Amino acid sequence: MLCTIPTHGRVASRSFAKLGVAVAQRFPFALSAIAREREVMRYFWPTLRLLTFTALPLSICATRADEKPKMRAVVAHEYGAPDVLKFEEIQRPEPNDDEALVRVIASSVNPADPLTLSGKYAKEFGTHLPMIAGYDIAGVVEKTGAGVTKLKPGDAVYGYPTFGGGWADYVTVKEWEVGPKPKSLSFVEAAAVPMGALTAWQSLVDVAKLQPGQTILIHGGSGGVGSFAVQIAKARGARVIATASTANQDLLKQLGADVAVDYTKTKFEDVAKDVDAVLDPVGKDTLARSYGAVKKGGIVMSLVARPDPAELQKHGIRGAGIASHPDANDLAEIAQLIDAGKIKPMVTQVLPLTDAVKAQQQAATHHTRGKVVLRIADEPKT
Ligand SMILES: NC(=O)c1ccc[n+]([C@@H]2O[C@H](COP(=O)([O-])OP(=O)(O)OC[C@H]3O[C@@H](n4cnc5c(N)ncnc54)[C@H](OP(=O)(O)O)[C@@H]3O)[C@@H](O)[C@H]2O)c1
Repeated sequence: MLCTIPTHGRVASRSFAKLGVAVAQRFPFALSAIAREREVMRYFWPTLRLLTFTALPLSICATRADEKPKMRAVVAHEYGAPDVLKFEEIQRPEPNDDEALVRVIASSVNPADPLTLSGKYAKEFGTHLPMIAGYDIAGVVEKTGAGVTKLKPGDAVYGYPTFGGGWADYVTVKEWEVGPKPKSLSFVEAAAVPMGALTAWQSLVDVAKLQPGQTILIHGGSGGVGSFAVQIAKARGARVIATASTANQDLLKQLGADVAVDYTKTKFEDVAKDVDAVLDPVGKDTLARSYGAVKKGGIVMSLVARPDPAELQKHGIRGAGIASHPDANDLAEIAQLIDAGKIKPMVTQVLPLTDAVKAQQQAATHHTRGKVVLRIADEPKT
């Protein structure tokens, strides 16, 4: 228990002395009595001091033991731009029976963060004010609810709570929202994985069922989702055509893309023809031009829009609007690929939690290179 020992004892003894002088000045007749009192006090003063130094702090400790533990958190009391976020000390949450309390070591930044904060999709995302920002987390299980069977205190985990709350010292999670942290990664690196990698995994593996030898066009290959999608596609033996701006061509190659397309200089449809699948995290014109790049029977998956049924029918292709979700089994499979050296998070910036506003402003640009991570606590010694 954290208990501050106050300096009240010293203050009290100085106050007693001042009081004695004041009484002597105002009531000189009382001086002899005061002298006697002083004699008595000489014997009792050490005991009194001891009491002031110990009993008072102990009573304060007892009061504080009843208080709920506190934590630091990045909180929004209103929807809006990133600057509505406040860095506050608030009550630590308690896990319900089906939850675990996780001590968060690091969290990463996603475009979903400013989107949630805008309040535009509050109903769809199930967001309520006040809210604690942040989805991705890597941390250590602090305690578990009575109904939790797999997680136990001390487990290193990574994942994302469905309703956020990750930009804080502690967050409660359901058992299925987190998986064992990849052993080969630090907590900062692991925090960069969950939402980006789960979205890429669920699109390529669950929806497209990407096979070895197939070709996939991945737009925004340098971003949070794209950087995992390129690596997952390569790990599954597919051929990858990836797009990004000029500054990120090196990253696309580093990630393993077979063909890197600079969308500021080259039309992707001039390079990508008859592909089996497209992953689109951009939308609008990029999505509209993607239908024609897919072979009959292929698939267009968009992270930001529902593919147009008329276009799908016209080209004889399938379409999917992706809605990713936390999934402990998927996280475990991703961790295995990471520990096997097949996927690596691209952490390009690590910021302190107090830079939450700056981090969300960056996420809102939709031009993040790799992942930006917020460090919340020091890496635990394992
Ligand atoms: N539906 C879901 O479940 C789901 C899940 C996760 C994310 N998302 C959404 O998916 C989008 C991407 O997420 P993210 O985390 O990957 O974002 P991000 O980290 O901001 O990355 C976006 C990437 O797109 C690239 N880009 C921007 N304009 C482009 C264009 N015209 N053509 C090709 N590439 C372009 C950027 O590269 P340059 O800087 O080189 O342009 C950047 O690397 C966001 O809108 C996010 O909200 C949806």
